Amino acid sequence: MSVSPLEPDSLTAELVSDGLRFGAGGFVRRWVEELASLGEPPPDLRPAPLEPDDAAALLDRLGVAEVDALDVIATLPSADRTPEWWWCLEREVYRLASTMGDPDAPRGSWPSFEGDAHSVDRRCHFVHVALATVPFTLDYYAKLGVPGEVVMASLADLARHMAIHRRVYGSTGVDAAWWVTLCLRGEIQDLGCLQYNRFTLGVGDESPAWFDDAVAERLGPGFRTGDPCLGIHIPDQTPLEPEQVEASLVAAASHFRQYFPTATRRVATCMSWLLDGQLAEYLPAQSNIVRFQQRFELIPASHEGDGSLLQFVFRVTGDKPDLDALPQNTTLERAAVAHMRSGRHWRVRTGWLDLPEG
Ligand SMILES: CC(C)(COP(=O)(O)OP(=O)(O)OC[C@H]1O[C@@H](n2cnc3c(N)ncnc32)[C@H](O)[C@@H]1OP(=O)(O)O)[C@@H](O)C(=O)NCCC(=O)NCCS
Repeated sequence: MSVSPLEPDSLTAELVSDGLRFGAGGFVRRWVEELASLGEPPPDLRPAPLEPDDAAALLDRLGVAEVDALDVIATLPSADRTPEWWWCLEREVYRLASTMGDPDAPRGSWPSFEGDAHSVDRRCHFVHVALATVPFTLDYYAKLGVPGEVVMASLADLARHMAIHRRVYGSTGVDAAWWVTLCLRGEIQDLGCLQYNRFTLGVGDESPAWFDDAVAERLGPGFRTGDPCLGIHIPDQTPLEPEQVEASLVAAASHFRQYFPTATRRVATCMSWLLDGQLAEYLPAQSNIVRFQQRFELIPASHEGDGSLLQFVFRVTGDKPDLDALPQNTTLERAAVAHMRSGRHWRVRTGWLDLPEG
């Protein structure tokens, strides 16, 4: 990308009229327009310049692989050298820092720049945003007194999603950058093998498919629009053994009671392909996935889940892949293909549970 020594205001105008320099598509245009509409960040929400030594130390602390860290450091943006990238980064950090700890604040557009069709500058951009945001996240957690080990485990989501990018594309980048904003905004915490995010039912972007209003009202506190809720998420390649799941649920009950107390019942929900009851037609009753499913009460609403399953099992995008090309090594991989080949579809289901009393 060319470097133009423009005044900040004319840079904003130029980027709004030519946002597509960052990549093709309406999504990128919307992202640039949203950033422009935020305006200049106030001094207290402005990121500090990114220095190579500090960035290297933070990447190491966050568990980012060295091969990826080298690309990230080689492409660090600055207000002087790469004013376009710095313009984006400042506003993205501002957007995250000004909504820190508020999972119900709209997330906005976050282009992932995934895959090798994008330059290394683009693929590393979100990592630069993360590095510049982490000091705000650490400050937020420090004020709440959340233990350092929980904070660092939660911030490890960045390295996890960079590892997925490397596995899929063989290069530095971030898988599903928008998802990592949950960890940067302090709205998601890793406790053992599961992740938990706070949100308000029917309000936050992460609110799942849910009961209709009449049923929710009948079920009472904990189920109604506006009630506090937790989301449960299963990070990539973490063990889902029942004992570890149980330990995580117990840890979550005490963590959220202590650091994010609520006056009313707060159920935990999970919306995932992993809760599709059809999986039990193929997987043994003793499998981790089936035993995980048994913990949840399902809600009736669901949506088509072929794309989701393909993404999480095979790491392919789109819902019409070449079925013959997919690996068939595990029971789940074979089930996924056989099911779709027979003309059936996977579903994404929502379940809920009460965390253990502890
Ligand atoms: C969730 C997860 C850890 C469960 O794995 P697990 O503990 O091995 O699950 P199970 O014991 O029930 O596995 C049953 C079978 O499915 C296979 N399997 C499970 N997850 C698989 C995956 N992601 N890809 C391929 N095969 C998988 C297992 O290897 C096993 O088959 P086998 O007996 O032939 O070896 C794993 O699926 C995963 O990492 N998923 C990605 C993250 C995800 O989907 N999160 C939810 C987002 S909504």
